[in-house]
Amino acid sequence: MTEPIESTAGEYFGARVAEYDALIRACVPRYDEMLERLVGYLPPAPAAILELGTGTGNLASAVAARFPDAALTLVDAAPEMLELAGQRLPGASRVVSRFEDLAVPEGSFDLVTSAISLHHVEDKAALYARLFAALRPGGALVFADQLMGRTPDLHGVNWEAWLAHCRAPGNCTEEQTRSFLDHAEAHDHYTPLEEHFDLLRAAGFVELDCVWRNWIWGIIHARRPA
Ligand SMILES: C[S@@+](CC[C@H](N)C(=O)[O-])C[C@H]1O[C@@H](n2cnc3c(N)ncnc32)[C@H](O)[C@@H]1O
Repeated sequence: MTEPIESTAGEYFGARVAEYDALIRACVPRYDEMLERLVGYLPPAPAAILELGTGTGNLASAVAARFPDAALTLVDAAPEMLELAGQRLPGASRVVSRFEDLAVPEGSFDLVTSAISLHHVEDKAALYARLFAALRPGGALVFADQLMGRTPDLHGVNWEAWLAHCRAPGNCTEEQTRSFLDHAEAHDHYTPLEEHFDLLRAAGFVELDCVWRNWIWGIIHARRPA
């Protein structure tokens, strides 16, 4: 039987904390490579870092290991996720909030980062404007996320490759794959790379690049001018 779909993405993930780390590695090809690559594109010495969509803390742990003296603020809509992330990262500040409702003081971060989370936000123009304001001049926005292909055909190739990966022996059950598809239909808002760049540029960002890509997953780099 198909599981019921929770009313928000935060509730969906909050209900899956215990299985999350195994599940994300089974359903996202090259997940660990993607996080490692993202960390490689972070600026040299950010003092204050905001991470959006912490989940169980996998990216946050890598960021904290790279910048042990930085002040790390972790945001997630799921309190269950932040509870676990807090055990892994006791020194970090935690904020339970939807990204859409987050009050971020202007000019308070040197780096905003995120993995596989921002596609849950529909109004990316508003999100990027707020993240630009949250950054100090010269600050960076570097995030991994699920992207829409440039054309329906290209997106179809990426999507089918992802489903084949999920269904490959040893990865996900058919029930789990069905749950991802239902989740995507209910909560995901994919945007093509070019549109991300247009929206980021409109918000004031420069140095736009896609520094890594694998099927629907990509890493985007942007910077607030100094
Ligand atoms: C796919 S998980 C990614 C977790 C982690 N960054 C990783 O790479 O494993 C997405 C996370 O974003 C959170 N999330 C989804 N939509 C959100 C929203 N609108 N506001 C705040 N958090 C959200 C979920 O609760 C979940 O923990």
